[in-house]
Amino acid sequence: MTLPARAPSDDSGLAADLVRHAARLDERLGSAGGGGTRLFFSPGRVNLMGAHLDYNGGPVMPMAVDRGTFFAIRPRADRLVRFASTCEDGGLECDLDAALPPASATWTDYPLGVVRALLADRGAPCGVDVLFGGNLAVGAGLSSSASICVGTALALDAVWGLGTSAMERIRAALWAEREFVGVQCGIMDPYAVGLSRPGHLLWLDCKDESTEHLPLDTDTLSIAVVDTGVRRELAQGAFNERVAECARAFEGLRPFAPGAQCLRDVPLAVLEEHGDVLDDASAERARHVLMEVARTFAARESLLAGDPACFGAQMSKAHWSLRDLFRVSVPELDALVELSLEVPGVLGTRLTGAGFGGCTVVLLKREARDELAARLREGYRDRFGREASIGFFDGDAGPREIAS
Ligand code: GLA
Repeated sequence: MTLPARAPSDDSGLAADLVRHAARLDERLGSAGGGGTRLFFSPGRVNLMGAHLDYNGGPVMPMAVDRGTFFAIRPRADRLVRFASTCEDGGLECDLDAALPPASATWTDYPLGVVRALLADRGAPCGVDVLFGGNLAVGAGLSSSASICVGTALALDAVWGLGTSAMERIRAALWAEREFVGVQCGIMDPYAVGLSRPGHLLWLDCKDESTEHLPLDTDTLSIAVVDTGVRRELAQGAFNERVAECARAFEGLRPFAPGAQCLRDVPLAVLEEHGDVLDDASAERARHVLMEVARTFAARESLLAGDPACFGAQMSKAHWSLRDLFRVSVPELDALVELSLEVPGVLGTRLTGAGFGGCTVVLLKREARDELAARLREGYRDRFGREASIGFFDGDAGPREIAS
């Protein structure tokens, strides 16, 4: 399936999608005798450089994309909070005046975690009904979780009149994922969802949390996201294992790197000289991290110098390192990378997100889009007997209310 690109500033298509989404609110949650329904959108993200660097204090270069989570939300006359989804089974009902429920290992943990974070030190004036939905593949490395969490924070902030800042909403989203859902994720995803701008990559230095918006020439360049369709059941556990291996690498190397505050600060020469203090897995993970830091700075320089081919070359090198050193790739991702690199006009490609399945991101010249789509469709079907779905994504302005 090839999805058409959309002008990033044009919300009219989105408004129509959200109105259709809201029409299912009564059907799913009944009518509720409160005020009117409000509509919100929150994007997903792709990361172009800085793979698995955020929880190691390194730099990352993501952007929000024009696919994401839809919210139809209305206040209730009572104190109930009720969640349903057009994409997932199950839902949640709880009472704001009783103890909020514990995590249940279902999708509702994400918005419930946000409710808990927002209400940790303040009250809510009324109950709410929320119908979630959207057009972002879930579990595909496009940060559907940060999309739902940051968007929930904005929608609740608006309906409850909490007056939170963008940073407070990002913090609430992070708390929900880390402390309530239990994934030891870094800061990249909610920052990318919350702070990106169309036509730019977000430069986020995860050590001091400073950000910059770096222009990407979207008149001549395009970003494709290609979904392998592979989802790994235990991906969260494998992700937490990578976090632990990197932490072990830092603990092992820090005695040789005075002043280092995180793995990103350890010089590569220290790893070369003292790597034998580490177990094999931690040594490989550390090598990926330290070389990816260097690649990400090189990619930044290429972008600023107007050299997207050099930027793309760093992306592809990152993929081989994710396969061989960080070991988060799967054959389907490798095949998509290999097939993409055969297409003239493709500048670079790699897996995006945590890995273990999910999507690749491709940076290419705009005129190469049709050929890329045709070659990937055919090549992937030949190798794996099924279609890879390819979409051309535009950047996005971040979580917002959409006028109906
Ligand atoms: C997941 C995590 C992010 C980041 C990426 C890998 O998406 O949620 O914090 O670590 O993996 O770069």
